[in-house]
Order: sequence, then C-alpha cells, then structure tokens
Amino acid sequence: MIIKDNGVIGVVGLGMMGASIVSALLINGQKVIALAPIESDLDKSAKERIKKSLNECRTQGITADDPEELYNNVTFTSSFDDLKFCWIIMESVSENLEIKKRVLEKIEKAVDDSVIITSNTSAIPISTLQGYLKVPERFFGMHWAEPAYTTRFLEIVCGDKSPTKIGKELHQIATAWGKEPTLVLKDIQGFITNRLMYSLYREAFYLVENGYATIDDVDRACKNDAGHWLTFCGPFRYMDLTGLQAYHAVMKNLFKDLSTGTEVPKLIRDIAESGGNGVSNGKGFYSYTPEESKAWELAFEKFAFDVNRLSTKYLEETDSITSGTSKD
Ligand SMILES: NC(=O)c1ccc[n+]([C@@H]2O[C@H](COP(=O)([O-])OP(=O)(O)OC[C@H]3O[C@@H](n4cnc5c(N)ncnc54)[C@H](O)[C@@H]3O)[C@@H](O)[C@H]2O)c1
Repeated sequence: MIIKDNGVIGVVGLGMMGASIVSALLINGQKVIALAPIESDLDKSAKERIKKSLNECRTQGITADDPEELYNNVTFTSSFDDLKFCWIIMESVSENLEIKKRVLEKIEKAVDDSVIITSNTSAIPISTLQGYLKVPERFFGMHWAEPAYTTRFLEIVCGDKSPTKIGKELHQIATAWGKEPTLVLKDIQGFITNRLMYSLYREAFYLVENGYATIDDVDRACKNDAGHWLTFCGPFRYMDLTGLQAYHAVMKNLFKDLSTGTEVPKLIRDIAESGGNGVSNGKGFYSYTPEESKAWELAFEKFAFDVNRLSTKYLEETDSITSGTSKD
C-alpha cells in the first residue's frame, strides 16, 4: 500500500453533498473532520442534516449503530489547519473553478505531501484541477452521488498525473466505505455516469422539443423501461441478458437517427433563465405547490432507501455467481 490511512477523513464544503458525504462516511465507521470554508456555514443546517440522515439510516436499517455515537465521530471546523490529522481530503465546494482553485490551494498548504486530495466535481476535468496543485500526483476525482449514504455509487477518477496504482488502492479502500466504486482510468469530461446520463437527457429533450412525446410520457417510458432494470445491472449486462443480437441489429439504423445536438435545449434554458430550479422552488418542467414539493421530496427519500435495500439484496445474489466475468 502506498496510501497511509490513519483513519481520519477530511470533508471540505458542507453544502448538500458535503453533508451527505460526511453521513455516508460516518455510517461506515469512519472518523471525519468536516470543514466549512465559510465560517458562517458552520451554522446548524449541515449539522442538522447530518443528524437527520444518521437517524434515518438507523430507522431504515442501513446501520445498526447508535446515530448519536456515529455523530460523535465528526468534528466540525472552519480552520484548514485541522486537516493536518487526515490521510485523505474530499473537497466538495461549489462547482466553480475559481472557488475550487482557492480551496484546493488552502488544503494543500495545510497538509503533508503524502495526503491524498480529491474533488467531488461533477464536470470540471480532474487534470485542470490537478494543475493547481504543487504535488499533482496526490490528486484524484472522487465523485459521489446524492444521497451519498444510500447509493453505492462512487467514481474514482485519475487525472493525467494521477498514478493508476494509487487509484486502484483508493478503489479498494472505498469498498470498505460501503461503496461499489468504479475507477475512471483516463480523465474524460463528465466521467462515466454523467456522459451516460447526459446522452439520455439530450434525447429526452429532442423527443419533447420536436413534438414526438410529452414530458410526462418521456418520464413514464424511462421510468418503466430503464427504471425497471438499471438498479439490477448496467447496459452491457442487460444486453447480454436480453439477447445482444437484437441490439446489434437495431444499432445499425437507430444510431444514425439519435440526437447529436450540441446546444443547451431551449426548454431547460427558458426555465433556468427565469429562475426555475424544480422542486426546490416549485418551478421546473412541472410546477409544484409547496405541499407537492415536500411530498415529492419525501417520496424520493423513501424510495432511495428502498432501492438501496433492493440493490444490496441482488448484489449479494449476483456476487455469488462465479461465471460471467467481462471480456476486458
Ligand atoms: N448536488 C449533487 O447532486 C451533486 C452530485 C455530485 C457532485 N456534486 C458536486 O459537489 C460539489 C458541491 O455541490 P453541492 O450540491 O453540495 O453544492 P452546495 O451549493 O449545496 O454547497 C456548496 C458549498 O460550497 C461552499 N462554498 C460556497 N462558496 C464558497 C467560497 N466562495 N469559498 C469556499 N467555499 C464556498 C459552501 O460551504 C457551500 O455550502 C460541486 O462540485 C457539485 O458539482 C453535486
């Protein structure tokens, strides 16, 4: 092992994702230093959200541990000096290049050269962020999904200067955090999951904007087709399960016809530019009363725990199948 894991993890940025990552680490037995770079962010909200998610994880059976004891394993701070106790730091501040650059520089100043630094960026190339560090080889993308404590998703992304060997060690370690991580061997914008998801979003806009179907029907079709199997397996396993000959035949004609648009669709641009943010302010592709927003949020939260249970059950089942390894 090149990595020197002393058991303390730093999370920098306590917004929606930062708080969620802290909870995910706590329920998997880690000790966390949670840092709010803006001192006023050390108010109650991140702490309350972490407490709430720990309680929910206990109620839903994701952890058998006492939420209060888990909560005792997090130390809140706004001083970068406190990061010196950590073996790895996870930056999760706003998706803004300048902000991330300043925060990464502060992190690097506070820790030894052997400490691993990661970013939860959704779309900034890892090699770009890596360029801001004095010791770039210690830097990786670590891309979580919301809610981090119910999904097993975690992408570890190598930048141009990140040694694959350390990426593989991180991959191994992240399994112990209750994740089923993936390793992106070469930096690519959007990594694996956003590239897959944004191709889906682009085609969804194409169908609606060109009058082939309504928003409602696109959502319904997606939910009942892909939604039926995506928690069980990925696209390659699915094509194997359902007969890849048919996909081979369909691709010959359909690929030519799919959207290759490069502009941001008008449908989302108009809503975004007029301030719409979806459920959080009631204005999105659908409109919501405050009561409806709350009900959608609650249903989504409940669903996340149910999906976690279902996918865990089938992961155990499919893990015991010894045949069926991939060709690479
Ligand atoms: N929201 C998601 O579903 C999601 C999923 C995967 C990755 N991400 C990524 O995680 C990161 C954080 O996203 P979020 O949704 O938690 O955002 P957020 O807006 O909820 O939180 C951002 C945090 O950044 C910090 N911050 C803001 N301005 C700052 C400044 N000038 N200097 C220092 N710190 C500052 C604050 O602590 C704030 O709480 C982003 O890079 C985002 O792309 C988000």
